[in-house]
Amino acid sequence: MSARTRPLPVSPSAAWLQEGYEHIWMPYTQMQTAPLPQAAVATEGSRITLDDGRQLIDGVSSWWSACHGYNHPHIVDAITRQAQRLPHVMLAGLANEPAFTLAVRLAEMTPGDLNRVFFSESGSVAVEIAMKMAAQYWLNQGENGRGTFICFDGAYHGDTIAAMSVGDPEDGIHGRFHGLTPAQHRIPLPRTEETRDAFESFVAEHADTIAAVILEPLVQGAGGMIFHDAETLRTVRDVCDRHGLLLIADEIMTGLGRLGTMFACEQAGIVPDIMTLSKSLTGGTLPLAATIANDRVYEAFLDDDLDKALMHGPTFTGNALACAAANASLDLFEREPRLEQVRGIEAHMVSALEPCRGKEGIWGNVLDVRVRGAIGVVEIESIGDMNGLRARFLKEGCWIRPFGNIVYLMPAFTIGTDDLTALTDAVVRVIGEA
Ligand SMILES: Cc1ncc(COP(=O)(O)O)c(C=O)c1O
Repeated sequence: MSARTRPLPVSPSAAWLQEGYEHIWMPYTQMQTAPLPQAAVATEGSRITLDDGRQLIDGVSSWWSACHGYNHPHIVDAITRQAQRLPHVMLAGLANEPAFTLAVRLAEMTPGDLNRVFFSESGSVAVEIAMKMAAQYWLNQGENGRGTFICFDGAYHGDTIAAMSVGDPEDGIHGRFHGLTPAQHRIPLPRTEETRDAFESFVAEHADTIAAVILEPLVQGAGGMIFHDAETLRTVRDVCDRHGLLLIADEIMTGLGRLGTMFACEQAGIVPDIMTLSKSLTGGTLPLAATIANDRVYEAFLDDDLDKALMHGPTFTGNALACAAANASLDLFEREPRLEQVRGIEAHMVSALEPCRGKEGIWGNVLDVRVRGAIGVVEIESIGDMNGLRARFLKEGCWIRPFGNIVYLMPAFTIGTDDLTALTDAVVRVIGEA
């Protein structure tokens, strides 16, 4: 028996949608008031086909993951071949070739001595593992009081409990969990002289209680696509170095090309002690994440004593199917001009979104327009009718999902000029509606 209390919205859609909606619990959704989701039946490139035959141009690349566009044949082939041979074996005590090969490739392509790769299946879990690694790094050296983390206003690192604890509860989506999440030190990003001084003195005072500093390098994503510069990153690295703290760079959103370099940290010339990756890792096809530690962190776990090992092992760690998809995705970064494509998208969005600046329309007043890499943002004072705005973009034939107070585009790096123009034109047209 269903616990629904209201009739389903009338829709000509498939039976599976109507029946399944009685039982599925959708993400980030108020199930009582949300409109019925669109029924997607096929994808290709930058297009999503709905069950009524409409095609939407995708401006979100499935939560920023489908960087090569949908159904890239090279990734589909790799998954198909792997599925026929060995979809999954447990990683403890057994090795599978795709996972081992992927570990080598990630160690080679990430900056500095980020040489040890631990696989999991989602970004939030990769962050949990990074935090656990950092805390145990100190425990293994007999430093028992370093259980807290420094994180920054505007941060988002995932939805699990520890990941929520280092997100910004005020600006983020986890404000109601105070008390449940462990207390951390959340402070402003050191981007001005005043905040740099404050960061430095905070660290100087509390360093011996802190395991690591965690941040999203250059762009804070789900907190509102907030940009900071390379200098800020260098400041954080420098202060961590001077006070002996570990630095965790959460590149789940920024890594793998989104900002025009393979990793955001490269743009500041810094190397974190631990890096997290997910989203684009499999080209948006299968769930996979990586927590990559440098030699200093890894070596602190080496001992004759099992207690000093990283006692962590999700069932699907090193899943062969997902790792095969990731290897194929990395092939595409090597063979196809992804970073150039990102720079092209950036140049297009810089000029195409500019007409939104200063607009005061029915959807709200525009506060800012900003672009970095393949991220284009129109920040609005306040979006009153979120469902209405999302429906309006659907009418334009575009899959654009504003959240908080931003309308943003994060398309596949392979999107064609016509489709990209259709997306930016739609944003300009809708935001300008008076
Ligand atoms: C920077 C960052 N960290 C962590 C996560 C969480 O990843 P997941 O949704 O795969 O758990 C996200 C997701 O948006 C993210 O943007």
